[in-house]
Amino acid sequence: MEHSATPEVRVLDAAEAAVPFLLQELRAVALSSDEGAEHRPLISFATGGTFTAFFRALDAEIQEGRLDPTSFVGTHLDEYMGFEPERAGGMVHELTLRCPPLRDMIARGSFLPVPCHGAEGSLRAHEERIERAGGIKLQLLGIGRNGHVAFNEPGASFDEGFHVTALAESTRADAKSRFVPDQPPRRAVTAGLRSILGAERIILCAFGSDKAEAVATMLQGEINGTCPASALRTHKNVLVLLDPAAASNLDADKAADAIS
Ligand code: PGA
Repeated sequence: MEHSATPEVRVLDAAEAAVPFLLQELRAVALSSDEGAEHRPLISFATGGTFTAFFRALDAEIQEGRLDPTSFVGTHLDEYMGFEPERAGGMVHELTLRCPPLRDMIARGSFLPVPCHGAEGSLRAHEERIERAGGIKLQLLGIGRNGHVAFNEPGASFDEGFHVTALAESTRADAKSRFVPDQPPRRAVTAGLRSILGAERIILCAFGSDKAEAVATMLQGEINGTCPASALRTHKNVLVLLDPAAASNLDADKAADAIS
């Protein structure tokens, strides 16, 4: 693989400490906004339990007037195949439920939902919209127990844009509770690793012991598609925020340089 740039890794006292940190990063990007709507910075959100507390706090930030939702454009990483924004279980539904101002942003056209039907033309058009918006300034990311980022499952190519993919069985098992009594979908539309690596800055958060193995492989294993998150080590501006449980499998000697 290409040249590897070690991400900055911070181990926080607890997962909650990530919330003010993420809000600060988001605010800094939003404030870097140029004049003129087409220059508002594009921020791409991640979904999942890792970011629940963050979205509640983001909701409060916007509702209480501390963050202007017109100061940035939003988007997100992935969507279950065929899940329109209002369909429960879907990613956009989750985002708007946790942070209702994002619904207004969709209505105003300042939040770009991932095309949920996965038609090739719509995916290329989505990529072009991202490009026209100046690319993604800040990308938030979680990580799956199997090392996936977005829905780039083990075996994923580092060189794909937005595409339709099959979900790994462990990913479907982890998503079970959001679809009860139905079965989790088998396919999704996802940002590829090339799309993710195109962001100017990436912040990956991982909390809890379930993520410890994937985090260690991401940071200290081989850089290849077996652990898709390892692709982040080829990017020069990545911050990894961990709680002590998620950091617990890191090799202390190797980690010493990276952890601040
Ligand atoms: P989680 O999912 O935040 O629900 O753990 C993260 C992921 O699978 O990327």
